[in-house]
Amino acid sequence: MKVLIATDKPFAQVAVDGILKVIAEAGLDLKLCEKYGSDKERLKRTAADVDAMIIRSDKIDAEIMDAAKNLKIIVRAGAGYDNVDLEAATERNICVMNTPGQNSNAVAELAFGMMVMAVRNFYNGTSGSELKGKKLGIHAYGNVGRNVARIAKGFGMEIYAFDAYCPKELIEADGVIPVESPEKLYETCNIVSIHIPATPGTRMSINYNLLNRMPKNGLIVNTARKEVINEIELVKVMEDRPDLKYVTDIMPDDHKELTEKFAGRYFTTPKKMGAQTAEANINAGIAAAQQIVGFLKDGCEKYRVNK
Ligand code: 3PG
Repeated sequence: MKVLIATDKPFAQVAVDGILKVIAEAGLDLKLCEKYGSDKERLKRTAADVDAMIIRSDKIDAEIMDAAKNLKIIVRAGAGYDNVDLEAATERNICVMNTPGQNSNAVAELAFGMMVMAVRNFYNGTSGSELKGKKLGIHAYGNVGRNVARIAKGFGMEIYAFDAYCPKELIEADGVIPVESPEKLYETCNIVSIHIPATPGTRMSINYNLLNRMPKNGLIVNTARKEVINEIELVKVMEDRPDLKYVTDIMPDDHKELTEKFAGRYFTTPKKMGAQTAEANINAGIAAAQQIVGFLKDGCEKYRVNK
């Protein structure tokens, strides 16, 4: 049986080597399709004879599934699986899994890298401000949110969190103050770090009303998904509030407009970098390989995300 690593944004070589070891020890073969860009045909061709796929943010739709006639399992080496058509997978009896928690420290560390950069005015030589003593709002207290809280303590921040699903006792147990609504989080905190997944319920949910609640000199850090931001309203609120800053690890669709209008208040990485560390690649990649072996050999469906 064959396993394909299909990663337009490749893993570190050390992670590929680790995946190969797990796959080979299980008696499976490994194929690689990296940096295929917009060449979907290349991905379809490479996937034609594989039983399993390890992916990252790679978009896997019905067309690719149909091209991969033997496909039984797709493992998203990472947290968010909004890039996989789950319904199409279920219809074709393909199991989809993620690897929760495996890359969350890397994303959390990047959130702080971006935070420091923004409060130090993008290192432009002017006097900035410090994180110590500032109120940090964590929007969704999952694996990344918890790591953000852990690191924020080292910076001496006052930490708040909103999570629609996490019991407030769990948040409090980490020394974090739970708030009852996103509105409360945004109006309380100097800096908000976004960690909600992109779902039908969260898409474009971060809007003018929410962002405009932030105190003067508010900073929004988005290492989650661009889809959760209402970009038209982001532009509007940044026009109305020259004190706000937006930094993101996911290039917005209106990147050009944001760059032109908000120099010195807007920053995006050119390519999503949150999980792009050797450690995260190793953790998530090897977990994905092990989950594939467990599924193909023993039918283990832990971390399955489709029905
Ligand atoms: C995730 O959902 O795991 C993160 O957003 C990282 O995504 P990536 O693997 O595409 O970098």
